[in-house]
Amino acid sequence: MTKMVDLVIFGGTGDLSTRKLLPALFQLHRHELAAPLRRIICTGRGEMEAATFQSDARTNLEKFLPTGAFDAAVWEQFSAKLDYIQIEADHGAHYEALAALLDQQSAEGVTRLFYLATLPSLYGAICQHLRDGGALGEQQRVVLEKPLGKDLDSCREINEQVAQVFAEEDTFRIDHYLGKETVQNLLAVRFGNPLFHPLWQNTYVDNVQITVAEDIGVEGRGSYYAKTGALRDMVQNHLLQVLSIVAMEPPASLEATDIRDEKMKVLRCLEPITETNVKHRTVRGRYDAGAVNGQAVSGFLEEAEYKDSAHTETFVALKATINSWRWAGVPFYLRTGKRLKKRYSEIVIEFKKQAFSLFANDPLELTNKLVIRLQPEETIMLHTLNKRPGLTKKLRLQPVELHLTNESRDTSENYDAYERLLLDAIHGDQTLFMRRDEVEAAWRWTDSIIDAWDQVDMKVEAYNSGTMGPSSATALLVRDDRSWYE
Ligand code: BG6
Repeated sequence: MTKMVDLVIFGGTGDLSTRKLLPALFQLHRHELAAPLRRIICTGRGEMEAATFQSDARTNLEKFLPTGAFDAAVWEQFSAKLDYIQIEADHGAHYEALAALLDQQSAEGVTRLFYLATLPSLYGAICQHLRDGGALGEQQRVVLEKPLGKDLDSCREINEQVAQVFAEEDTFRIDHYLGKETVQNLLAVRFGNPLFHPLWQNTYVDNVQITVAEDIGVEGRGSYYAKTGALRDMVQNHLLQVLSIVAMEPPASLEATDIRDEKMKVLRCLEPITETNVKHRTVRGRYDAGAVNGQAVSGFLEEAEYKDSAHTETFVALKATINSWRWAGVPFYLRTGKRLKKRYSEIVIEFKKQAFSLFANDPLELTNKLVIRLQPEETIMLHTLNKRPGLTKKLRLQPVELHLTNESRDTSENYDAYERLLLDAIHGDQTLFMRRDEVEAAWRWTDSIIDAWDQVDMKVEAYNSGTMGPSSATALLVRDDRSWYE
């Protein structure tokens, strides 16, 4: 039987909680999946009556839930669980008050789930105060939001501090890309279809491309972003997590440990990028003014008047290599950026050309590609070639896209990644969360790039908003006689 859970959200009045966590929790209630959740206690730095918090939460839910999802009857049930308490991160007495609030309804077998959505530099202090203030119950778990540090050393420090209070099996490190439906579908496609199994290796795959393109700028997050940049904000976590699922060996089972062991092996096999190859392997870009979706937009430097923003990249493209039997010789091209032409995230597995072709002179002699779209639509398409129909004497080719996703799928089954991940955290399933060694391995590799950038004083190239990044990103593949799939 599923155990009951009391959830405490640190940063409960913040942007993530308002836009993502509370809407996701509301949706779980709406879909009748929240039965194990007894209470949702949000914490914030300011003093506020619970009733005021509830009324703000209702206004925000009406704003941020998908159209038509707000339901007054569900709100009654949801708001009855919703509470608020003031907690300043380093104020010990506030944690005693939290402990007292939790104890008011303590019951046997209830797990306390602490969701930390504050500045990661506070995670260590929060965990220690939770313990010292007596707020940990019989059983407890902690969820940690990204970014976990800004490099390997700071990440280790946070992990170390958290580990003094929470065991690794009770620590849930979020990467919301792992909660996306198509990322999970990758496991089904790769390991459920014997058809793909033999093809998924360097004998048949020419290259892999992972693109996470955003059309928005840094919005109100300039001060965080100026210190962070696209490599730390997106590649270290989301893109490397996706890469490790694409590249991993078949796990022994679908259990969390087996899947995470295999992802970890991929991260360990990533070849470090060094000062000798960083200029050929990576591209850094920063958006200038331009037009996105027909709207004129300003450049990053005009928007983000923050210290050091001139050295911050809002775009990265790079060529990663995985030194393993399966992937030796297959480049993995990754790119991500803000203010690009459109918002989409996609994985492309491009298969090799045939060594000998009967259609060598046909202009449509294209390669087969498996295109896995994470967003905005969730689709998987296999690009193949057929005969162009008709009576012409010569056999000519025609591209045909096979949709491997169910187009008539019930869209009411769509969900946000945070719904999936909150549900898993409530049930204590760690499969879609990052283990400590994975995050640290990802930082080790990312640090190699940052160090190499520093060594060679790597320039950040300007690109116009509304394009797909600097021209060097195109050149990165052209040098290898390849091109981005677009
Ligand atoms: C976050 C980054 O982790 O992911 C943001 O910090 C980025 O900068 C966001 O905008 C993208 O997420 P999604 O799900 O909209 O692709």
